[in-house]
Amino acid sequence: MSNINTNNKTKTNIAVLVSGRGSNLQAIIDNIGNKNIENATIKVVISDVADAYALERAKKHGIDAIFIDPAGFEDVSGYEQELLKVLANYDTELIVLAGYMRIVGKVVISAYKNCILNIHPTLLPSFKGLHSHKQTLNYGVKVSGCTVHFVDEGMDTGPIILQSCVPVLENDTEDSLSERILEQEHKIYPLSIKLFIEGKLKVEGRIVSVLK
Ligand code: GAR
Repeated sequence: MSNINTNNKTKTNIAVLVSGRGSNLQAIIDNIGNKNIENATIKVVISDVADAYALERAKKHGIDAIFIDPAGFEDVSGYEQELLKVLANYDTELIVLAGYMRIVGKVVISAYKNCILNIHPTLLPSFKGLHSHKQTLNYGVKVSGCTVHFVDEGMDTGPIILQSCVPVLENDTEDSLSERILEQEHKIYPLSIKLFIEGKLKVEGRIVSVLK
């Protein structure tokens, strides 16, 4: 059994990893800004994509924005060592993956056990990996949603923190479904981060309990 985030510091330092437009990053920035999430600061936003719009969002809010080019390293482990250096430079305690389209490898996971969160736009364990909305529509499920989970060494397999359901409508396209799911993502991701920072998440094996 392990209690998460038992550090006694006043503010938890967050690094957000992104690859794209960063609407979840924006929701987190807004929730810190309006004090729904207290005692947290986003120290750095890191992208593996040079022109990710999320980097612009970070800069607009005075947050350091860094592009690390995976192509500049011989292998994944080299890239992850560099990532670890940057994370350490910013005294990162919590890593938040927000539309980061790369698998986090052993190097980072073992350094940040139960301190990496991810959001995925399906009700896991259904439709892991890429093209989630296409997978959802092709399978014909009537309910989908989104999942926030701790990151482990599998792909989208870590212990589940929160989920939210969204109906799949008959005339849904990938865009319309994605839009409705995103509205829920922007609620449950900030809430999960808040619970983490308040030390209210307890992990026992696969089971995450929310402490009162
Ligand atoms: C979100 O829908 C997120 O759930 C998904 O990428 C989108 C990023 O949007 N993540 C994954 O599919 C990870 N497997 P955003 O850049 O606007 O936050």
